[in-house]
Amino acid sequence: MSNTVLSIRNLVVDIPTRHAVLRPVDNVSYDIAAGEILGVVGESGAGKSMAGNAVIGLLNRPAHISGGEIWLNGNRIDNLPREKLRRLRGKDMGMVFQDPLTSLNPLLRIGDQLTETMLTHLDISRSEAEKRAVAALEEVGIPAAAERVNSYPHEFSGGMRQRVVIALALCAEPSLIIADEPTTALDVSVQAQIIALLKRLCRQRGTAVMLITHDMGVIAEACDRVAVMYAGRLAELGPVREVIQNPRHPYTDGLMGSTPLASKGQKRLRQIPGSMPRLGRLPAGCAFNPRCPKAQDACRIDPPPTMEDGRAACLYPIEIEKKVPA
Ligand SMILES: Nc1ncnc2c1ncn2[C@@H]1O[C@H](COP(=O)(O)OP(=O)(O)O)[C@@H](O)[C@H]1O
Ligand SMILES: [Mg+2]
Repeated sequence: MSNTVLSIRNLVVDIPTRHAVLRPVDNVSYDIAAGEILGVVGESGAGKSMAGNAVIGLLNRPAHISGGEIWLNGNRIDNLPREKLRRLRGKDMGMVFQDPLTSLNPLLRIGDQLTETMLTHLDISRSEAEKRAVAALEEVGIPAAAERVNSYPHEFSGGMRQRVVIALALCAEPSLIIADEPTTALDVSVQAQIIALLKRLCRQRGTAVMLITHDMGVIAEACDRVAVMYAGRLAELGPVREVIQNPRHPYTDGLMGSTPLASKGQKRLRQIPGSMPRLGRLPAGCAFNPRCPKAQDACRIDPPPTMEDGRAACLYPIEIEKKVPA
């Protein structure tokens, strides 16, 4: 498809350790189109951040890409030299992390940081960049933007700081934003505002978004499609509405059952029994089998193939709900 911005093909990330090679990302594939928000969800340790960091070229040694391909706007980027990737990172990929202070230089006024970023990546004059910096802050809802351009990061609240980070991530007009738990550190009351802001701005500009979160509620609110990760593998991939209404993978069903979602109107929440296995101790077969209510002997032999429609990697997927006529 011509409007595909990001394409991840059979991505594998390995971490060699003294005892074994750990595989936090195992054969993961998905695309994100222009203007689309793909949610990546799963419990802590599922490999969500590793997959995101592989795309932006920020894996920390000894973790490294050991298989597969990453394409951005039709160009392969997983094998680029460091310097080229660094440039892409500012220009074509914007980042929003959990802690806004990782993106903001504490010693720079936020206006200067925006201006410098634009001057590095866009062919515009300094006065134009300064004008755009104020406009960018207005756009993300910073009150009195013309004055606040002169403030330092520590002079903002957490929520306002994350708004500044969003302005910074978007100011060089990237085609892809990677947002890794962008609201996890914020007060619940501002989380929804930040998600709504990110969604509105990226829709307006046609920016593709990889939105990484452990929170199924955020997925339901913000995303077009969702990729569910478990122990480094893709458990399920599909349109959010369909996945929420009728999860096919028992792990997705378990995640949904443990999240309060207004749209589902569940009576009570139930936790998935047990916990996700550590990487060095994955069970044979489907990594979810020890916790899975539907597991059979076949699930304990090989990792399950992805269903033909691309939806879930499961030998015994949950049936498609039949609408019972009233
Ligand atoms: N340096 C490392 N050595 C060994 N294991 C690591 C290292 N860094 C991360 N991991 C493991 O990689 C897995 C994936 O981590 P991560 O991508 O951060 O998960 P998520 O973002 O989904 O919470 C986790 O099981 C984590 O323990
Ligand atoms: Mg993470």
